Amino acid sequence: MTVAITREISPRFAECELTHIERTPIDLERARIQHRGYVNALRELRCDVIELPAEPDLPDSVFVEDTAIILPEVAVITRPGADSRKPETTSIAQALAPLVKIIHMREPATVDGGDVLVLGNRIYVGLSTRSNQEAIDQLNEMLGKYGYSVLGIELHDCLHLKSAVTRLDDQTLLINENWIDANCFKNFDLIHIDPSEPYAANCLPIGESILFPPAFSKTCEKLEKRGYNVVTVDVSELAKAEGAVTCCSLIIP
Ligand code: GLY
Repeated sequence: MTVAITREISPRFAECELTHIERTPIDLERARIQHRGYVNALRELRCDVIELPAEPDLPDSVFVEDTAIILPEVAVITRPGADSRKPETTSIAQALAPLVKIIHMREPATVDGGDVLVLGNRIYVGLSTRSNQEAIDQLNEMLGKYGYSVLGIELHDCLHLKSAVTRLDDQTLLINENWIDANCFKNFDLIHIDPSEPYAANCLPIGESILFPPAFSKTCEKLEKRGYNVVTVDVSELAKAEGAVTCCSLIIP
């Protein structure tokens, strides 16, 4: 069974980090309702969800994806790029320890899990404001023995690599080529987001289904036409904190 780790929203969620969008008022109760909908959708897709309690003083801590890189062989506990987010990893390491072998990134490396796209034995790391070359070097050193090679990839105008490109299945990626060079993924079948929906490149495959926000209806239609079973989850209030569907869980297949 797939295990999903999630975390309840912090009461200080509205104090989140913001990099590429303007701060707008966040309705905490609405965000919590949407997050419950997300957790329920994971359960309906037969995930065993481990819900961690809120971290009252860590505004972005609902975005657990950024705290670890989960591979079949090992989980790497990250050093998030924003200082306010570095303490988020402690409780995640505690939650993961009984489930998987864990190793830790070391200073001066910084990487957010949202910048890490695993495609077979190749791991792409977005060279964003959060993730640096030292992280790529350390990941190559740590993961080479498991057969992985780790490559840095440039992106622009978005927070994380997975804001610009995510995996739909082993052959297919969903991409916003305005934020990343599509030529980096020549060996994949690329589905391009609808240009009117720049934030639509973030999707979360679970089993045979794709979790996806209903706000991006044109891209959603493209996915359905290509035969994907799309399960919609409204994360519009979480998007005001620069969050998306991959950000809110750590998936252990
Ligand atoms: N607010 C999400 C982040 O900046 O990490």
